[in-house]
Order: sequence, then structure tokens, then C-alpha cells
Amino acid sequence: MIQVKFYHLVILLALFTFSCSSGVKNENNELKLNTSDYKVQSLEYEGKTISIRAFENISYCKYPIDTAYQKMNIYIPEAYFNGESINGYTAETAPVFYPNQVGGYMPAKPATFIPEDDRMQMSERPNTVAFMLSKGYVVASAGARGRTLQDPNGKYTGKSPAAIVDLKAGIRYLKYNDSQMPGDANKIITNGTSAGGAMSSLLGATGNHPDYEPYLKELGAAEATDDVFAAQCYCPIINLEHADMAYEWQFNGVNTFEKREWGTPNVSVVDLTEEQIQVSNDLIAEFPSYVNSLNLKDKDGNLLTLDEDGNGLFKEWVKGYVLSSAQTALDQGSDLSSFSWIEFKDGKVVDLDYVSYIQYMKRMKTPPAFDGLDMSTPENQEFGTASIDKQHFTEYGMTHSKVDGATMADEQIIKMLNPMYYIGDSDANTTQHWRIRHGAKDKDTSLDIPVIFGTYLQNHGFDVDLALPWDRPHSGDYDLVELANWIDSIVK
Ligand code: DHB
Repeated sequence: MIQVKFYHLVILLALFTFSCSSGVKNENNELKLNTSDYKVQSLEYEGKTISIRAFENISYCKYPIDTAYQKMNIYIPEAYFNGESINGYTAETAPVFYPNQVGGYMPAKPATFIPEDDRMQMSERPNTVAFMLSKGYVVASAGARGRTLQDPNGKYTGKSPAAIVDLKAGIRYLKYNDSQMPGDANKIITNGTSAGGAMSSLLGATGNHPDYEPYLKELGAAEATDDVFAAQCYCPIINLEHADMAYEWQFNGVNTFEKREWGTPNVSVVDLTEEQIQVSNDLIAEFPSYVNSLNLKDKDGNLLTLDEDGNGLFKEWVKGYVLSSAQTALDQGSDLSSFSWIEFKDGKVVDLDYVSYIQYMKRMKTPPAFDGLDMSTPENQEFGTASIDKQHFTEYGMTHSKVDGATMADEQIIKMLNPMYYIGDSDANTTQHWRIRHGAKDKDTSLDIPVIFGTYLQNHGFDVDLALPWDRPHSGDYDLVELANWIDSIVK
């Protein structure tokens, strides 16, 4: 007979607790910022010396799953420890700028004040952290898990919704420590580009929503809220389950694409196959009913719809954003005379030929652009699970899959990666302030996606500054002066 002794129960309980937390359990990690554990750093930036206190590699949750990524850097102007003010802000009033470095849904390290390496080949990017510190903002940046991460047993640990959960845990850490440090955690402004722009849009849209609560509990996130004050989103790759049809609505008829080699400047022009052209025709047919289901309205209350051929006021609405983009460029002194398809009158942009405009943009992705039938896209991998690397996330992708044994992502997980579902949800504390930028030559997703998002937010009463900067490809952080002006205008 097996005798169950007390110490057997203790061992069993210990094993159960360890496996439940699925990470390193560290009850000593109190989540209080150690205010004496910092380094003084300084940098010459645009002719001035910026001196700050750097609190780096902070664990922002009690039970991290991947300590290489789930950590945060906080940078605070030294002036705030000496009772001084910068740009009209003090230790009490300074906003907290919260940039993430997520790209391609990959794991991302927190941003640093002293540039570290040539990450993601973005060396041409400005030092956003230094710039924002020079404006008197506190800067806090959290790392986040991403689609390729595995633990030593081969289990995937960074699939959706890991990245947004991590970034929310970072917000909770900052709010929990608000009284410990300079900066006002009720004035957090998030920022990110592309997949990072998607994360910023989710932080803005989904504040405190119960959907994310079990995941935050599992990480041992700080006991605090996670809504933010404002969101800057550069070219957010969002609304993924509708982005394929939107892409084809924009590029249907453009039957070549610019094939890129990731990480190199190499581009070759390749024809779409007959099969891909058919996929494009299938997908474009789904777009009007999606747009019409949103009941989008212009500023006069007119419904922005599409007929079954994909024409209508919504198309004019998107085109309107392109026209104002060209006008802004013209007003700022750009020479647009090489764009023969733009019509000018008396120094004003009055019209453009939309087909020529799309041809100038050029297609970058093959149909379906996001839910690849061979499951080769970053998004297929983002929608994997702990045991499955890649999945489909649209009905079209699933029914036309070319992969044996392909599976479909969970509906709830798809929802949790799409900010659209949380706009107007009374359980979400959605931020009032939005700044959305998507280059007018950015074809990583179609223009319709940010325009739909911005319009939907506007229609729900939010304050939205949406623009498509002229001739700009997929990029972010290119207009930091304007971004800081916007932050000052909503904070002060
Ligand atoms: C990114 C770019 C893409 O084209 C995409 O599909 C997903 C993410 C990015 O740059 O983050």
C-alpha cells in the first residue's frame, strides 16, 4: 500500500504551483522601483547635453516568462531631481513617453537612451528617446515577447497576445510606481511603428479591458490600471482579418509586385500568377460588405459606403486623405510637378487619377497579403499557439489553405489583436487622443486600414489626428517635432 505522507503533498503542491505559473516565480520581486539603483548618463544631442538617470533592465512583472525581453528601461531628466523644469514641465507634471520597439511581431528589446546597435536596420532612425527627453518627457520603454520565442522545451512563448499583454504589464508597472518617480503616469503617450504601431493602437483602444486580465494575472502584473492618455501609431499593421480584402481593394489590377529580400535593399519585379489574380478577385468581392457593416460617416454624417463594384463615398473619402496629403506637401514647398497624374489649379491640388496613383505606389505583397495560403507571413506565425507555430486567421485562408493539417487561430485571440473591436466597448477605457500616420507610399498594408481605423474612432467621438504623409514609405518617428507639439497640445 502506498502511504501518502505530508511531505509528498508538499512536493506535489510545489510542482503544481511551478507548472501553473509557467515561468520563474519570484515572490521577492516586489515591483517597486528601486529609486537608488540607477546610472547617470549623458549625451550630446543637437548641440545640447542631455543628462538623465537611467533605470535599466527592470523586471516589470512578478512571473516573467522570458527575462531577456520582459524588462523595461526608464529614463528621467536629471533636472527633475533638482527641482528644475523643462519645456514648462516639472517632476509632477512631465508626461511619460512610452515607445515600443516591436517590428514584424518579433520579440523586441526596450528602447535605450544610448544607442545600442543597428537593430532591424533602422540606423537612419532618429534617437527618439533622447529627443523626447530633451522635450522634458520621462521616457519608459518595455520589451515584449514576439512570435519566434521558444522556451528550452520548444514551447512557443511569444504568440499573440503575448506582446500586447507585456506592454500592458509595463503600463501597470509605471502606474503602480507613479509616486516613486518623476513623471505623471496619468499622462502616458504610447508610440510604435508598424507591428509596434499595432501595439500602440491596442494600448490606446483596450485600456483595462477584462479580456487581457487572465494573461496579466498569469504574469503577475502590478496591481494597477493599464489605460493610457494618448496613442501615436505609425503605419499600424492592424485589423489583420480584414486587411487581405482591403489590400486587394487597393491593388486589384496591379498584377506585378516588388519582391523584397528581408534585410537587404534588393527588390525584383515579379508577375502575379493566374491563381493569385483569382485570389485577388475573390478577396476584393468581400470588401464592400465589410466597409458597409461599419456604418462609417463623414463629418456631415453622410454614410461612407461602397457599391458591389467597390465604388462609392468611402473611396472618395480615402482619396480625400491622399489629396490633402499632396496639398500639405505642396504648402510645405515640395515640388510635385513630376506627378503627372495630379491636377493643380491656382497652386492648389484639385484632383488626382487614383489608378495612376496606385500604379506609382506599386504592389508589395501577393494575395492574400496577410493570411498567406502557404502560411509564410509574419501574421501566420503571430497567430500560432504554445504548440503550433503558424495558423490561419481568416475563413478564406483556412478554406483555401495549401498546408496539410492547417489550423485556425482562436476567435478570441484574433479579437484581442484587433483594436477595432474595442472601440465603443463600454468595458474598455479607450484613450481620447489619437495621432495616426501612414505614409502615402506605404504598401505594407493598404491605406484603407488606417483610414477605416481613424474614421471609426472619430465616429465614436474620439479626438483623431490622421494623415498620410506624402511620398513616404513604411516608416516611423520621422516627424518628432510635430509629434512633440501634438503631445504638448493635448497635455498642457
Ligand atoms: C511589419 C511589416 C509588415 O509588412 C507586416 O506584415 C507586419 C509587420 C513591421 O514592419 O513591423
